[in-house]
Amino acid sequence: MAALKVGVLISGRGSNLRALIDGCAGGAIPAEIVLAISNNPDAAGLDHARRAGIPTRTVDHRRYGDRARFDAAMSEALRAAGVELLCLAGFMRLLSPGFVATWKNRMINIHPSLLPAFPGLDTHARALSAGVRFAGCTVHFVRNETDTGPIIVQAAVPVLPGDTPESLAARVLEAEHRAYPLALRLVAEGRVRIEGEHAIVDAPAAAAAAHLNPTDE
Ligand code: GRF
Repeated sequence: MAALKVGVLISGRGSNLRALIDGCAGGAIPAEIVLAISNNPDAAGLDHARRAGIPTRTVDHRRYGDRARFDAAMSEALRAAGVELLCLAGFMRLLSPGFVATWKNRMINIHPSLLPAFPGLDTHARALSAGVRFAGCTVHFVRNETDTGPIIVQAAVPVLPGDTPESLAARVLEAEHRAYPLALRLVAEGRVRIEGEHAIVDAPAAAAAAHLNPTDE
């Protein structure tokens, strides 16, 4: 299977970029990360790509007058690298409708909640104040509205007594690092198709047993 050429967009720490790099290492995923772009020149995350010998680019949004020009600069870099699938990994800029349309069904994102609950910012604090018993993450195809689009993979983690937004974020982040490489593998292996606005995934479903939190044991 020819490796799918992947571009990754980040803005910061890049731990999900690192998880994707590690996932692709040794051919475990039929994908090759050919470019990592940050809109933020100070993003520490690009170091993960540099260490792995992956080309990096900074497209600093502050240097472009408007969003259309910023998107055009990114598109140009992605085209030049031959990117076929785009992964957003902690990318903190809104993308223009034109950019989203160009990459429709070829752009995926990870969000640290069980969508459609808690889209947008401060998701862990909002989950805690809602009193939910499970939190988690979602990998989905990108549509215009923030954190919407066909869902590929979700991972759930329990909310525990005494959780803070930070402790919950750390637990969810571990789940992210499993969910995103899995979603990339399923897409790269051609096991995900879109019907209507649902992603149909050719993979075994999770066990049907209920996950209870709290439990009575
Ligand atoms: C992750 O929680 C991701 O779900 C969200 O932004 C965070 C990025 O973390 N979209 P990192 O830069 O991948 O470490």
